Amino acid sequence: MSTTPKLQLRNVTKQFEIRGDKARFTAIEDISLELAAGEFLVLVGPSGCGKSTLLDLLGGLSAPTSGEILLDGRPITGPGLDRGIVFQQYALLPWRTARKNIEFGLEAKGLRAAERRHLAEHYLELVGLHAFADRYPHELSGGMRQRVAIARSLAFDPEVLLMDEPFAALDAQTRESLQGELLRIWQATGKTILFITHGIDEALYLGQRVAVLTSRPGRVKTVVDVDIDRSAEDVRSSAGFRAQRHHIWTLLHDEVQRAQSQEVQHV
Ligand SMILES: Nc1ncnc2c1ncn2[C@@H]1O[C@H](COP(=O)(O)OP(=O)(O)OP(=O)(O)O)[C@@H](O)[C@H]1O
Ligand SMILES: [Mg+2]
Repeated sequence: MSTTPKLQLRNVTKQFEIRGDKARFTAIEDISLELAAGEFLVLVGPSGCGKSTLLDLLGGLSAPTSGEILLDGRPITGPGLDRGIVFQQYALLPWRTARKNIEFGLEAKGLRAAERRHLAEHYLELVGLHAFADRYPHELSGGMRQRVAIARSLAFDPEVLLMDEPFAALDAQTRESLQGELLRIWQATGKTILFITHGIDEALYLGQRVAVLTSRPGRVKTVVDVDIDRSAEDVRSSAGFRAQRHHIWTLLHDEVQRAQSQEVQHV
């Protein structure tokens, strides 16, 4: 018996019209990928290869030029409460405090005030911002704002989490602790997670599979099955981890070099 994937991209291409140019710009080309329900997939690829573009498509914020994107076997036609997005640039509501930003999605879900407050407290604590609950976004640092955005998406508890470099702006300690928390939440809730990162260690530590995209236009170069024992102490230093890090580093390195030689040809 075959089960329907949670998310499915079928031959997805996205082109943009460029002002003053008749030709269209191809950001991603012919991408096919499937995420099973409960799967944690990480996407890596050179800067500008179309990762955020792909996330926008999955979030229903834009439509593919060709190809299909399915959620539970049905085409995605727009944003939905079933998907939570953490954007690469924190997208907080400036007129709401940290706490009220976290409560925002919970209002949409119809949760009662006491329950919203309780969940907001819990997730503020989780991201280490308990003392900053009543600050407005402009009163927080970049990394703090990103942590509020992460707390907001976790509190919202969607079936599918789409995360675009969510930990990039954080210090190493906070990043490691949130990576651990995200893994724990994923294991406890069985969410389907698509996570974008530039960090190879982060990709390996979090992902069951790591999809490596090519440089512009983004295509799927390889999908690597991650095989590491995350319960081992200091897993990032193990021989298995290091071998897989090198493998992905090599795949990415080739793409970054290809991207750079493309730039030179354009000059
Ligand atoms: N709305 C748009 N109009 C025109 N071009 C766009 C638009 N959005 C993205 N692009 C182009 O598509 C390409 C992919 O952009 P995208 O933001 O998806 O890259 P990325 O892989 O997320 O990069 P990074 O790792 O730097 O975040 C880029 O060349 C970008 O200039
Ligand atoms: Mg991006």
